[in-house]
Amino acid sequence: MAYSLLFTNARQLLTVAGPPTDRPLAGEGLSSWRIIENGYLACQGERIVAVGSMGELDRARVTAETIEIDCTGRVLMPGLVECHTHLVFGANRAHEFQRKLAGESYLEILASGGGILSTVRATRAASDEELLAAALHHLAGFRRYGVTTLEAKTGYGLDFDTELRLLRVAHEAARRQPIRLVHTLLAAHVVGPEYKAAGPGAYVDFLLEQVLPAARPLAEFVDVFCEEGAFPLEESRRYLAAARQLGYKLKIHAEQLHDLGGCAMAAELGAISVDHCDYLSEADARRVAAHPRTVAVLLPLVPLFLRQEKYAPGRQLIDAGVPVAVSTDFNPGSCPSKNLWLALSVACLKMGLRPLEAIAAVTVNAAWAIDRAHEVGSLQAGKRADVLLLNVPDYTQIPYWLGENPVERVFIGGQEV
Ligand code: NIG
Ligand code: FE
Repeated sequence: MAYSLLFTNARQLLTVAGPPTDRPLAGEGLSSWRIIENGYLACQGERIVAVGSMGELDRARVTAETIEIDCTGRVLMPGLVECHTHLVFGANRAHEFQRKLAGESYLEILASGGGILSTVRATRAASDEELLAAALHHLAGFRRYGVTTLEAKTGYGLDFDTELRLLRVAHEAARRQPIRLVHTLLAAHVVGPEYKAAGPGAYVDFLLEQVLPAARPLAEFVDVFCEEGAFPLEESRRYLAAARQLGYKLKIHAEQLHDLGGCAMAAELGAISVDHCDYLSEADARRVAAHPRTVAVLLPLVPLFLRQEKYAPGRQLIDAGVPVAVSTDFNPGSCPSKNLWLALSVACLKMGLRPLEAIAAVTVNAAWAIDRAHEVGSLQAGKRADVLLLNVPDYTQIPYWLGENPVERVFIGGQEV
């Protein structure tokens, strides 16, 4: 059969594929995947069917119907996988940015009724149309950065109707544009305002009895913010264990601002990812490493934006054998940036990742962090044809041009977008 789409003469083709494996890339494997010099990549319809060096290209399958993209002098790589975003929310928090610059901390602003709770008020007050328009605007921004698959969390509703509404809006956004979405219920972001007096236990009961059963057809993952001022360790454990019983896959926000032990607890429950990890201890990193399918999702733009000195110990995590991914954490409070390339660079600068490790962290390991590694994240025959053409000559220039967008062309499922 003829190739429908063919990329030729790529100066460097970053496959981000190593030897066949049933788990995320870790340790040496995070940087020892294959780079093809002067490479080609062939697709049929929405799938990749062949990858190799130009000398190996089967010219018999190149016909008048084949669309050929000449990649001379450029890098070809998999579409970015953005594995942690709070995509759907009302308004923004530019006013709180001023308070933060004047010296108030993230948790002080939250305790005063601002922070997540101010976005909850704005989100509840917004119409579906307003929420959808904002989500589509943000997805268009992600697409320009070369994001081809994206995880979207709820978490600014905190009541039955609004949490379900946020899931429905995210599904509608998925239908209206080409980025593939993965849906996560983060109704346990903080305790809903109606349960302030009753406390986290009563709110968790409400979520387990009412929201989780109703949301199951619309969300694949459940996530919880395990933190002072949000959910304590034992409530987080009870919540995740019950969510697993209901058929959800698990994620956690943990060790962002304090060390409560959430990452190790969630890894032991079989969480697909443990996210933030800035305050993860060495002992708990070893407990996470004992679960090689659990990915630590590092979010380097968050400490930067919160003016925090402490960053997740990326280098130590990799050396301890923990698979890592990198994401923006796009949200109105702790990271209003969609620039995953900047996150990749800051992961190198502040967390000790090396360029090849960081590239795997925003592609194949990010796909593992949302249980999509069988479909996306690397340039391999059989996977979806999500491909980026970058206007740089080699991978070392990806983290180097700090804050720039190296993307020249984006293909999702074999179609240019
Ligand atoms: O991942 N840490 C908790 N949740 C978000 C921030 C949400 C917000 O501030 O609106 C995060 O950083
Ligand atoms: Fe987050």
